[in-house]
Amino acid sequence: MTYENFKLRTDEQGIVWVGIDVAGSNVNTMGTPVLAELARLLDEFDAQPPKGVVFHSLKSSGFIAGANIQEFEAIGKTNDVAAATKLILTGYDLYDRLAAVKYPTLALIKGFCMGGGLELAMACRYRVAVDDPGTRMGLPEVMLGILPAWGGVKRLPQLVGAPAAFDLMLSGKTVDAKKAKKLGLADEAVPPRIMWNTASGVLAASPTPRTLPFAQNLMTNGFLRGYVASQAKKQVAKRARPEHYPAPYAIIDLWQKYNGDVHKPAATESCSMQSLLSHSTAKNLIRVFGLREKLKAQAKGIDFKAKHVHVIGAGVMGGDIAAWCALRGITVTLQDLDAARIAPAIKRAADMYRKRLRDERRIRDAMDRLQPDVTGDGAKKADVIIEAIVENLGVKQKVFAELEAKARPDAILATNTSSIPLEQIATALANPARLVGVHFFNPVAQMMLVEIISGAQTNPDVARNATAFVDQIDKLPLACKSAPGFWVNRILAPYLTEAMRCLDEGITPETLDEAALAFGMPMGPVELADVVGLDVCAAVGQVVGGEEALRNAPKKLAAKLEAKELGKKTGKGFYTWVSGKPQKGSASAVPAGLTERLITPMLNEANKALAEGVVTDSDLADAGAIFGCGFAPFTGGPFNYQRSKSA
Ligand code: NAI
Repeated sequence: MTYENFKLRTDEQGIVWVGIDVAGSNVNTMGTPVLAELARLLDEFDAQPPKGVVFHSLKSSGFIAGANIQEFEAIGKTNDVAAATKLILTGYDLYDRLAAVKYPTLALIKGFCMGGGLELAMACRYRVAVDDPGTRMGLPEVMLGILPAWGGVKRLPQLVGAPAAFDLMLSGKTVDAKKAKKLGLADEAVPPRIMWNTASGVLAASPTPRTLPFAQNLMTNGFLRGYVASQAKKQVAKRARPEHYPAPYAIIDLWQKYNGDVHKPAATESCSMQSLLSHSTAKNLIRVFGLREKLKAQAKGIDFKAKHVHVIGAGVMGGDIAAWCALRGITVTLQDLDAARIAPAIKRAADMYRKRLRDERRIRDAMDRLQPDVTGDGAKKADVIIEAIVENLGVKQKVFAELEAKARPDAILATNTSSIPLEQIATALANPARLVGVHFFNPVAQMMLVEIISGAQTNPDVARNATAFVDQIDKLPLACKSAPGFWVNRILAPYLTEAMRCLDEGITPETLDEAALAFGMPMGPVELADVVGLDVCAAVGQVVGGEEALRNAPKKLAAKLEAKELGKKTGKGFYTWVSGKPQKGSASAVPAGLTERLITPMLNEANKALAEGVVTDSDLADAGAIFGCGFAPFTGGPFNYQRSKSA
């Protein structure tokens, strides 16, 4: 029999190697036609049982990226909950059928193995994970406001124990091959060169599948089940409110009440797929997933790849930008006034690599790529040069004039400035069209968004290449016009300023933060101001608000600046910070209208900035607000939120 999405090969031992190669796509996703073919494949195997089956990918992009989200997006747009439910039950039943076959099955996992891909792998009897930097396994459905409905909720706890399963399913985080083996999610974690032999060896030996150790079994299948579920709910409650994010609560309930069987809950129950899919959160989060792809799509088809990046300024931003680029495989030279100023950045990079890479060889390779460069010779060879020195026009102009003289003519010249108009910095260049803004956010490693700023003088091709570079380092590019505050700071400033005015009126920081959390912000405005730094907030407030902001500066903020209490970085701001945590008292009841008072200035500013063309369309603007300001993701962003209110 022939298949569109699978390529079959039977070896001399009678093992069928099923190469997954979804037609018309460079990534494998499990959509309706692929599921239908998998059913036909199982029919064929029923008729003539093989000695064993290995599922592996024929795509370089990875094993299987998950279900086909576009299908869910399309369903979300038409509100066809019945069609979505049918798709979910089909996948669930099919994977159950795979799990029940008599012949041994194995998933050979290299690269991304997410959602419906991992659920397929878990329905196999064995999993061999390839220890390769690209291998990541996880169930990220919760991030889309839904749950792992193709058997994930029942199978993951059986493999790794309920506490570890919740840790993965409720956060959507992923694990690499070694961690998967340690957890029990993979039977083996092996280097690429022995992956094929290991897969056939495991099938030939067909060991009894591993069962959970005693304590894990009690927590997963025994009398501690209820306790584990209530603990998991307590953990979730710290991060997400059920009215905003019902999915993590539904995952716990579906496991506790029905052992993950999606057929069992009534459609009206909060843990049913029907409830989740008809909730606005799932629709908005699935849309946000699409917006993220739309941000990335801005880089599609641009033929630019950086091999060498030169960063000038090894401070908070430059040091971390350099470290991030080296982590992503690029050779980086890092320049500052002297070696002593570069050393702390190298140390921070080493800490980050230890946490993220864990493997000694990979840590060493990343460190080798990050090179201190006091003389600035690296600028001569670099494809991208990023300036992240002090926020001073004269100094930046001088640096760019020197850079232009030594840089390659085709190198991107980029500034990380937050507030100085690009057009002014560019006057120092013989060719001002070369200068583009590449505006990272602090902390660089955690903030996904990078604004690509085009000044009036910027050559659009340079901005396009900068967009491709940002995509290359796995950040999300957002094209912005050079205007005070660009997009993120422009809409954040009025929101933070309003919070500061409320403080002046005597409302407590705790109550203000609670008002924003109730709206769904991940962090309240006062805590956020402390994290960003009150000096930075005041500077941004002035850039966006101009003279008026200076004249009418919030009083408590001014007093904090005067006292050099700048927030988290000095240990004291509006809160006192101990071990990286703000010491908060309890919030009073949020007064009626306070939440709207905080959010409205942000929405108004967003409308004004969009009308001025700071960003090109409201979808990208929504994405920028979510990934750059943390605007409540379940609302789908400021424009989607306003549309839903007026609907
Ligand atoms: P920082 O003060 O931590 O670091 C600046 C570094 O530049 C210092 O190490 C300094 O020695 C070095 N430097 C100064 N003049 C130099 C020169 N002529 N040649 C080489 N190195 C020189 O500053 P930070 O916070 O990293 O800011 C850098 C830039 O990034 C600024 O333009 C700022 O507006 C922007 N930015 C800052 C953000 C933040 O949250 N701190 C966020 C986004 C952008």
